[in-house]
Amino acid sequence: MSRPRSALLLVGSPRGARSTSASLGGYLLERLAGQGVTASARFVEDLPSAATQDHGLPAAARAADLLIASFPLYVDALPAPVTRAMEAIAAGRLQDRATGGRRDFVAMVNCGFPEAQQAEVALAICRRFAAAAGFCWLGGLAMGLGGTLGGRPLGQGDGRFGHVEEGLDLAAAALARGEAVPERAVRLLARPIVPPARFVAMGNRYWSAKAAARGIQDRLRDRPYQR
Ligand SMILES: Cc1cc2nc3c(=O)[nH]c(=O)nc-3n(C[C@H](O)[C@H](O)[C@H](O)COP(=O)(O)O)c2cc1C
Repeated sequence: MSRPRSALLLVGSPRGARSTSASLGGYLLERLAGQGVTASARFVEDLPSAATQDHGLPAAARAADLLIASFPLYVDALPAPVTRAMEAIAAGRLQDRATGGRRDFVAMVNCGFPEAQQAEVALAICRRFAAAAGFCWLGGLAMGLGGTLGGRPLGQGDGRFGHVEEGLDLAAAALARGEAVPERAVRLLARPIVPPARFVAMGNRYWSAKAAARGIQDRLRDRPYQR
């Protein structure tokens, strides 16, 4: 195991600093900094869209011992700008594979549905990226109902997110030692904030209220396109 001296967080949400991706990533980065890891962050929304343009990301990733990607789940996968950023990083990494030394990678996904396993495909993509680009895969964390955090910072004493903070504390301690995120950290982040059955009830109330505001509460079961 080699302890990372530096970490780069890639925040993959178009909401930037107001995103849940930034809240989770920022908290992890703070905890790493508290353990002597030099930490910095980049936001994909600030990167030019063309993958061919040099936006300094491959160089920043090259300079970091640990790369952390924190992003929202989009259609069971990664937001396109995150894929583009990872392609640019992979190209840079493959260029200097012989001289680059060990680089670690960890991914953190938050999604809208309550079940963290919605992110399984996205995390599998991240694991493949790590293998193809010559990173050491230190694991993936996934959290459901990211909207409940809504981009607010963690560590403010909101008891609903105590288990998320505990999971990230455990993950940071392991990553700072150059180890993979522990299974307990994965389980803590995946613990549903609201049980799925209650989420369905909440969703039903939400749609009823929306419909009532438009005076169409009796038409929610309409099927206008049914033949
Ligand atoms: C275009 C788009 C696609 C989405 N696809 C999914 C999805 O497939 N599954 C899911 O659980 N949530 C999905 N979501 C919800 C986001 O993952 C969720 O709102 C997340 O908490 C946003 O995180 P952020 O604040 O870091 O951007 C989608 C959101 C958008 C805008």
